[in-house]
Amino acid sequence: MRLIIEPDYERVSEWAARYVAHRINEAHPTAERPFVLGCPTGSSPLGMYKRLIELNKAGEVSFRNVVTFNMDEYCGLPEDHPESYHSFMWNNFFSYIDIRRENVNILNGNAPDLEKECADYEARIAAAGGIDLFMGGVGPDGHIAFNEPGSSLVSLTRQKTLTQDTIMAAKSVMILVNGYKKARALQQAVEGGISQMCTLSALQLHRHAIIVADEEATMELKVSTYRYFKDIESKNII
Ligand code: GLP
Repeated sequence: MRLIIEPDYERVSEWAARYVAHRINEAHPTAERPFVLGCPTGSSPLGMYKRLIELNKAGEVSFRNVVTFNMDEYCGLPEDHPESYHSFMWNNFFSYIDIRRENVNILNGNAPDLEKECADYEARIAAAGGIDLFMGGVGPDGHIAFNEPGSSLVSLTRQKTLTQDTIMAAKSVMILVNGYKKARALQQAVEGGISQMCTLSALQLHRHAIIVADEEATMELKVSTYRYFKDIESKNII
């Protein structure tokens, strides 16, 4: 697991946006072989989305050949409800970039058969070639997506009082962690053992996981852990 420590939220967002742009550009995606991006909602990714919009407008990255899969959606909430994740994604990101509407995938929380919707979603991800980069945030208790403490660490898309994700199967994962209130979650995920009580810790089993954190979120880390990651990442630009 890589742990990137940036001074503040602004710089976390900048690093994350540049990383996403770099990964898309490096893949040279085409319509036949698109780059597949997993997208989260929440306040953590807002700054990154804002920066990606700017990079898109500046011509530094294009989403023409990017296919997205959102992490989760509420069940039973109308798609056009302001709190739905459909609304969130279009209002904060998709409407401002050059992505093709048909390349956007978000679970239908109003599907008549939700179990089938989840299975179909997994099939669509597989048909797209799997997720190249899944981005995410984390809850203060260390949960990713809607995988609350006590969730199975190996589950895929499912209905879970609220619907779910497939982060561990992604080829790479980037999680954004900012603010003091996320400090315990970061500490458990990086220094603690793998535990269903902190589902973020499942990242320890992932081959290509990056956590991008701000200084505030590192508050509970040991000085030695902090210095170790600062030191090994100081040589890397991306
Ligand atoms: C919710 C979402 C998660 C998100 C978390 C943190 O639980 N289901 O996907 O990561 O909240 O949200 P925020 O980024 O607003 O702190």
